[in-house]
Amino acid sequence: FDIVALIVAAGKGERAGGGLPKQYRPIGGKPMLAHAIQAFSRHPAIDRIQLVIGAGQEALCAEAMAASGAPPALFLPLVTGGATRRESVMRGLEAIGKARLVMIHDAARPFLPAVVIDRLVAALGGAEGAVPAIPVADTLARGGTELGEVVPRDGLVRVQTPQSFAFDTILAAHRAWPEELEATDDAQILRAAGHAVAIVAGDPALEKITFQEDVMTAEQRLGARMV
Ligand code: C5P
Repeated sequence: FDIVALIVAAGKGERAGGGLPKQYRPIGGKPMLAHAIQAFSRHPAIDRIQLVIGAGQEALCAEAMAASGAPPALFLPLVTGGATRRESVMRGLEAIGKARLVMIHDAARPFLPAVVIDRLVAALGGAEGAVPAIPVADTLARGGTELGEVVPRDGLVRVQTPQSFAFDTILAAHRAWPEELEATDDAQILRAAGHAVAIVAGDPALEKITFQEDVMTAEQRLGARMV
């Protein structure tokens, strides 16, 4: 394949409440996962989609796949995820086996503008990896029961997904990453293997949905866009 989108959706998603794992909670009348699938399936650069899902979630996933409107031929066989995000990604990469580029994305980020995919593809001309990021606008400080020291935000960015990579390079980096270390994204795994990661402009729509209130904000955003 040329470019494969790898969507990890094997998290428990308990922080969003509501019983159903958050990636299957409806947003705008469709399961959350259907939105990311739809965005990739409508982008001409994406050849295949690899989904990584939780054990026993095949029926929920099939519903999301159908709701996305993506042609069935676009999907590679489903893969069961692991105990951590990193492990889930690793299983997805091993299952894909061979591609030129892979775009690794969280199902928990349902609104994926096509222009971000364009930027990520373009950025890989000169780098082994690229991430969308947005500058930090809020004051950053240590928290707890009481407000602590302010952390200077100059030069800090918030890193989003999808993250695009040369396939062989990210697979090798994942294989080299120490089993016991957790990683919140894949760009840090690429960097740890000694490769530079390019930054492209991210998008506020790409915010990750973590909590119950994020689901409601997403509903409102969708309502405003009428999609
Ligand atoms: O929990 P968090 O929001 O950081 O998860 C980010 C993404 O990774 C989600 O789309 C979630 O479904 C996925 N994930 C996974 N396997 C895990 C944990 C998280 O695929 N074991």
